[in-house]
Amino acid sequence: MANKIFLIILSLGSLILWSFKQIGEPTIIEFQVPKKWPKPHYDFFKNPLTQEGFELGRKLFYDPILSRDSTISCASCHLQYTGFTHVDHKVSHGIDGRKGTRNSLVLINLAWNKSFHWDGGVNHIEVQGLNPIQHQVEMDNTIEEVIKRLQKSNLYLELFERAFGNKEITTTRVMKALTQFNLSLVSSNSKYDQVMRKEKGVTFSQQEKNGLILFRKNCALCHTEPLFTNTFFASNGLPIDTLLKDYGRYNITHHSKDSLVFKIPTLRNIEYTFPYMHDGRFKKLKEVLTFYSEGINKKAINLHPKLQKTMVINENQKKDLIAFLHTLSDKEFLFDKRYSFPK
Ligand code: HEC
Ligand code: HEC
Repeated sequence: MANKIFLIILSLGSLILWSFKQIGEPTIIEFQVPKKWPKPHYDFFKNPLTQEGFELGRKLFYDPILSRDSTISCASCHLQYTGFTHVDHKVSHGIDGRKGTRNSLVLINLAWNKSFHWDGGVNHIEVQGLNPIQHQVEMDNTIEEVIKRLQKSNLYLELFERAFGNKEITTTRVMKALTQFNLSLVSSNSKYDQVMRKEKGVTFSQQEKNGLILFRKNCALCHTEPLFTNTFFASNGLPIDTLLKDYGRYNITHHSKDSLVFKIPTLRNIEYTFPYMHDGRFKKLKEVLTFYSEGINKKAINLHPKLQKTMVINENQKKDLIAFLHTLSDKEFLFDKRYSFPK
C-alpha cells in the first residue's frame, strides 16, 4: 500500500514537473550583413531569425513529405552544391516526372531580393513556399494536407514548439520557418569577396583583372556588385523560345513594357549553376558571352538601352570574363554543412 502511494506521488510529481518543463526561448541569430553590402530588403523584425526556426526550416526544405506522393522536396530542384538550383536539365522536373516551363532559380542572398521568380510574380518570400507546394508540376499538394501530415509527426510537433513556443502548426509558421532557412543562404566568401576585402595573400591574376574591367564596362549596370544583380528586371534581348512562349514579367503585369522582361539573376556561383537563362538554353558561360556579343535580338521591343549597341568582345576577352566570373564561386557556401541535408 505504502509502495502504491509512493508510486502515485512519484508519478504525480513527475507529471507536475513535466508540465512545468520549460521549453527554452528560441536562440536569436543576428543576421550578418557582409561589410559594405547594402541593407537587406527583408525585414527581420517580423520574423526574427532563430537557431530553432532555421533548423525547422532546413528540415522542411529537405523533406519530401511536402509533396503529394512524398517524392519531391524543395532540395530536389534546389541542390546546395550547385548554388541551390538544378543542373541536369533546362526546365525543372517535378512530381511524376512532370516538366515545368522554367529553369530553377538559385537561392542565394535572397534577403536582398525585392521580388521572386523569373517574372517577379511573387512579391514576398513568406508566401513563395506555397507556390511549389501547390504547383501541379512541382509538388502537387495542398498546404492543408502538409499541415495534417506534420501534425502527425512527434518530431515536427517538437520542432515547431522549439521554434515558436507551442505545438501549433499553421501555414504562417511553415512559411516563416522555410523563409528563415532560405534567407540564411548567404554567399559572400568567394575569391572576389576576399580580394575586395584585401585579405592577405589573395589577389586576382592578370586575366581575372582584365575580366573585371570588361565586366564593369559591359555587365555591371544590371549584374551590379556586390550582389551581382541590381534586383530589378530587364530584357537582355534573348530571342523568344517559340515553344515555351514565355513573355516573362508581362504575364504578371500585362503591360507591353514588360514583354520579354525577366529577373536579372545574380551571377554568384555562376560556374556551378548552369544551364543558364529562364529557360536554361545555354549550357556554358562561353555560349552566354557569344549570345551577348552576337546573339541579342536588337529588335526586341523592350531591349535594355545598354544592350542596344553591339558589345564587342573577342575570344581572348571572353576568356578573361569567364576567369573573372569564376572568382564568384564560393566553395564555403556550396559545401557549408549548416545548409546541407539535416542528419
Ligand atoms: C519541381 C522543382 C521545384 C521544386 C520542388 C521547388 N522549386 Fe523553387 N523554384 C523552381 C523554379 C522552376 C523556380 C523559378 C520559378 C519561376 O520563375 O516561375 C523556383 C523559384 C524559387 C524561389 C525564388 C527565387 C528567386 O530568386 O526569385 C524560391 C525562394 C524557391 N524557389 C524556394 C523553394 C522552396 C522553399 C521550395 C519547397 C517548398 C521549392 N522552391 C520547391 C523549382 C522548384
Ligand atoms: C541590361 C541588363 C543586362 C546586362 C547589361 C547584362 N545582363 Fe546578363 N542577364 C540579364 C537578364 C535580364 C538575364 C535573365 C534573362 C532571361 O533569363 O531571360 C540575364 C542573365 C544572365 C546570365 C544567366 C544567369 C542564370 O542564372 O541563368 C548570365 C551568365 C549573364 N546574364 C551574364 C552577363 C554578362 C557576363 C554580361 C556582360 C557581358 C551581362 N550578363 C550583361 C540582364 C543583363
